[in-house]
Amino acid sequence: MNSLASKSLVSINDFSPDEIERILDMASRFEQSPPGKILDSKVIAALFFEPSTRTRLSFESAVNRLGGRIIGFAEAGTSSVSKGESLKDTVLTVSNYSDLIVMRHSIEGSARYASEISPVPVINAGDGSNQHPTQTLLDLYSIQKTQGTLDGLNIFMVGDLKYGRTVHSLLMALSNYNTTFNFISPTELRMPEEYKLFLEKKGIKYYEHDDFTEIISRADIVYMTRVQRERFSDPLEYEKVKNIYVLRKEMLANTKENLKILHPLPRVNEIDRDVDDSPKAYYFEQALNGVYVRQAIISSILDVL
Ligand code: CP
Repeated sequence: MNSLASKSLVSINDFSPDEIERILDMASRFEQSPPGKILDSKVIAALFFEPSTRTRLSFESAVNRLGGRIIGFAEAGTSSVSKGESLKDTVLTVSNYSDLIVMRHSIEGSARYASEISPVPVINAGDGSNQHPTQTLLDLYSIQKTQGTLDGLNIFMVGDLKYGRTVHSLLMALSNYNTTFNFISPTELRMPEEYKLFLEKKGIKYYEHDDFTEIISRADIVYMTRVQRERFSDPLEYEKVKNIYVLRKEMLANTKENLKILHPLPRVNEIDRDVDDSPKAYYFEQALNGVYVRQAIISSILDVL
């Protein structure tokens, strides 16, 4: 039995560096040589209490291509949650119908709670501003694939570093690879202290900036993020910062050959459309990588290989 069998994935720290490496290797094998119908007879439940395009549909695509079945809902309004059913009752019920639950929820800690009460493993597909570990695994896969290594890279994280769950998970994972971090955000959206403390304890270098126009030439990876309107309680605060960073094509002029622009997507205005044609733009390939990586995660947890 592999060490990930029957294990939930709630935080990226639930997987050891060896287990992460195993997922990345398996995803690469699946990309090069699709493994066939290895999920035949398996049922995966996808419970999306928050909107999603990539995460939900790439999980669906991953399961369908491996011959499994996927059930669930894309918004809580179509489930009995709209009649007042609790998260606990929903999870216990759905675990009767499935071998694995994939869940996205707006409340931080909801996925951990679900994993503690569920008799089947739970994969966190994003819980509020906390964690998005499957996104992190596909981000690591994308970085390794484009840079040939995860070690010793200069990673720029730009935008909403306060509420952005993708940067929180990615920071934790990359802290195992001698990374230098540059955090670019307005004061209101700085990387939370707990994550900076986490890096300090591990002796990892990080720098904070208000802008990145003058320093982008040093980056190996620029990880752009959206300022998330849905996380602000005051709309005026959102209006103040929503368009603060826009990556434009001319900013790529003196950047490194190996630079890749990543973004978990969806984007609003933070990457100009004319950047899409640059060989340095990698965000749509990054989204495709999510299928191979999610296939590897599900296959490992269901121990079908
Ligand atoms: N990257 C990501 O989580 O995208 P979705 O919100 O579309 O799933």
